[in-house]
Formats: sequence, C-alpha cells, structure tokens
Amino acid sequence: MTRDVTVASRLEGSVRVPGDKSGSHRALLLSALADGESTIEGLSAGEDVRSSARIVGQLGARVTPSGSSVSVVGPPEGLGATPEALDCGNSGTTMRLLSGLLAGVAGTHHLVGDDSLSRRPMDRVAQPLSLMGARVQGVGERVCAPLTIVGQSHLRAIDYTVPVPSAQVKSAILLAGLRAEGETVVHEAVRTRPTTEMMLRQAGVDIDIDETHSGRTVRLRHSRPLARHWRVPADPSQAAFFVVLGALHPHAEIRVAEMDDAPERTGFLSVLLRMGAQLELTRSAQGLGVVARSSDLTATDIDSSEIPSVDEVPILAVAAAGARGRSRFTRMGELRLKESDRFAGSLALATSLGCAVGSEGDDFWIEGLGSADHFHAFEIDAGLDHRIVMSSAVAGVCGRGARIGGVETVASSYPNFFADLDGLRA
Ligand code: S3P
Repeated sequence: MTRDVTVASRLEGSVRVPGDKSGSHRALLLSALADGESTIEGLSAGEDVRSSARIVGQLGARVTPSGSSVSVVGPPEGLGATPEALDCGNSGTTMRLLSGLLAGVAGTHHLVGDDSLSRRPMDRVAQPLSLMGARVQGVGERVCAPLTIVGQSHLRAIDYTVPVPSAQVKSAILLAGLRAEGETVVHEAVRTRPTTEMMLRQAGVDIDIDETHSGRTVRLRHSRPLARHWRVPADPSQAAFFVVLGALHPHAEIRVAEMDDAPERTGFLSVLLRMGAQLELTRSAQGLGVVARSSDLTATDIDSSEIPSVDEVPILAVAAAGARGRSRFTRMGELRLKESDRFAGSLALATSLGCAVGSEGDDFWIEGLGSADHFHAFEIDAGLDHRIVMSSAVAGVCGRGARIGGVETVASSYPNFFADLDGLRA
C-alpha cells in the first residue's frame, strides 16, 4: 500500500506511543512459562507482539484480553510442543526468543516467518542453543527460517560470550538457561538492552547481573518464573520518531511520556542533545518523558556502541540529513541484518532527501542540508520494514512531502502511527 505524506505547517501535542515491544514479548513469554495467571498492562498492539501471543497460546498458555490489560494463564504442567507451525510473521524477537524458550520444551517445534524474517540469520541463536543440547535446523549456512527445533526438558548450562551485541541472542540463552542443569553464564562486551534479565529478576528467577567495564555478565540458575502483574512502559524506539520530528520540524512542540529509560535504549537522546536538539527530559517512577522543540541541528559522530540495537539509526539518519555538516556513523554492519538492509535503506533515504552520502565497509556518512526546509520531495519503497516507513514519514512531514510504498508494515510495531502523526497537525 502506498501513502502520500504531506508537509505540516505546525505540529503540537502529546503522543502516547505503544508499549515497549521488547517488554511486551518478554511479559508474554515469562507469563506463559509461569504456573497460573499473570496480567499485562500496556502490551503493544503491534503484529509482532500478537505473533508472540498467538504462539504461546498454541503452546498451551491461555491469553485473553481483560479490560485494558491482558491475562495470561501458564499451564501448571508447563508449555508443550504442538505439530502446528508457529508463525513469527515479521518478528525477529519472537523467533529468536522463542527458539531459546522452545529449546527447553521437549518435542519438535516448527517456526516460520514472512519473507523478510526468512532472510535473517538464526545461526546466532542456533549455535549456543546447540551447545546447550537442543537441535536447531534451518536453511543454509546462516540457519534461516523455516526452523525445526528439537527441544529437551533438561539442557546443559553454558558459559558463553555473545559474539555480536544482541539482546535477542542473550535472551534466547537465558530463556534456555531456565531449563538447564547448573549455572548459565552470558557475557556481552557491549551492554545491550537489559529487559530480559531485569524481568527475569522481577519474576523471582535465580539470577545475578554484573556490569563489567562496558559490558555485562548475567548468571542464571534453573528456575521457573512466577506469575505476576507486568506494567510495560512506552517504547523508546517508537518515541524516537516523534522526538526527531519535534526537533527537525521548524514549528513544533511534541511531548512523549513514560518511556523505558534503560540507558541502552536512550542513546538516541544523547546523540540528539549533542546535535543541539532542544529536548526537555523528565524522569518519574513511570518512566522518561521528553518534550522536543524545533531546533537547529549540527552534525555529529555516532558509533553503534551508543545505540547497541541500531534500531534508531534510520531516524537519526533523517536528523543528520537536516543537520549542518557531515555526520559519521561507524560500525553499523548490524543494520544490514534487520527487517531490511537498513544500512542501504538509511543511505537511500538520505540520498532521496538530496544529501550527499558515502560509505566504506561498515561505516557511512551523510552530508546534512542544514535544515529540513532543504529536503526534496521524494518517493521510496520501504519494503517490509516498519522503521523505514516511519523514518520516511517523519522526513516527508518536516520537508517537502513523500510518497511511501509498503506503509502497511507499520502494523508490525505501531498500528496507529499515521493517526498519531496526523493528530499532531495543528
Ligand atoms: C530486540 C533487540 C534488538 C532490536 C530489536 C528488539 C529485543 O536486536 O533490534 O528490535 O527485544 O531483544 P538485537 O538482538 O540486535 O539487539
């Protein structure tokens, strides 16, 4: 589906972005593993999270809406295998986290995904899970979906250093570790989002979390998560679109509230502050609130260690396109392995806005145009990538408009994105 995004003369108001996608997946999985009823408030309504909800249902949990929250009842005897295919849709988090969970569920499990997900590498989870005693088979050297996983109710604990910064890989190992004899130890050289280990701890799991120099070591012993009430904060990766929108648009004041404020999630705010963005930050028990106002942005250098999941890089590429000077993005290879090749996608987007760009190896640069007023009107096909759609829409609203193909993929993470965007037009 194609959509024309028009320029806004003025933007103001508050946006309630969806519940954090990472927290939503984990709340569903941990609740399904527990014995009895958990409730989840603030669950993301995106398709990715719905895939996780559907699958834990297929494995024996009961998932039902209950007022403004969702009730999940985990079976006392634990989750069980089903001969049905488990469809993860577009969601890498679903496929990787479930691989870890299913490694510890006896039986054979079949995981499938859409075309985008079937191109993404699953060897990064297959390798450690095989060391733990599960069998994970997929297509080709990179073990792409469809996956067949043969799980065991007793796994071996491992001591494992995750080779690329990846919260999904860390989480898959920790979920498998719940069913392993002995102590499972996961080291990461760069700290990735701590959602899994924090939520495991909240669910009463026997776990230690130690911060090392710039990394983290998590140790976990055989446990079953307890049923409880979860409150999912707003998703910082979705808030990022509106924060950049507020800073880049010449007449804007946009408020986003109550997002997860783990430092691994909010690196994009430090980047924008360095670029001169007028951001007002407020912290409360409910999370981090941000007011973003029209700003003159200047170029900066961004290394992937500042934004470990690289999820916010496409929207920061739009900010760089409207900034004064050349922004450099270094060690961005992981961008190629997301829902689409976001390394190419971010450069293509900046190019269509009228910027000079260049790349070498895993690094790239964007020569900013000094203001969104200088953006070109553009057309782009976002393929199967929700974040490219939303980044393009922000660029179009701030600049000279855009025609975006493939807009339906926003449903995977943010079904109301265009309604929320249009709600800010004053
Ligand atoms: C996620 C981890 C990140 C991120 C994704 C969600 C998670 O991927 O890109 O959107 O919920 O664990 P990595 O595994 O590359 O960190």
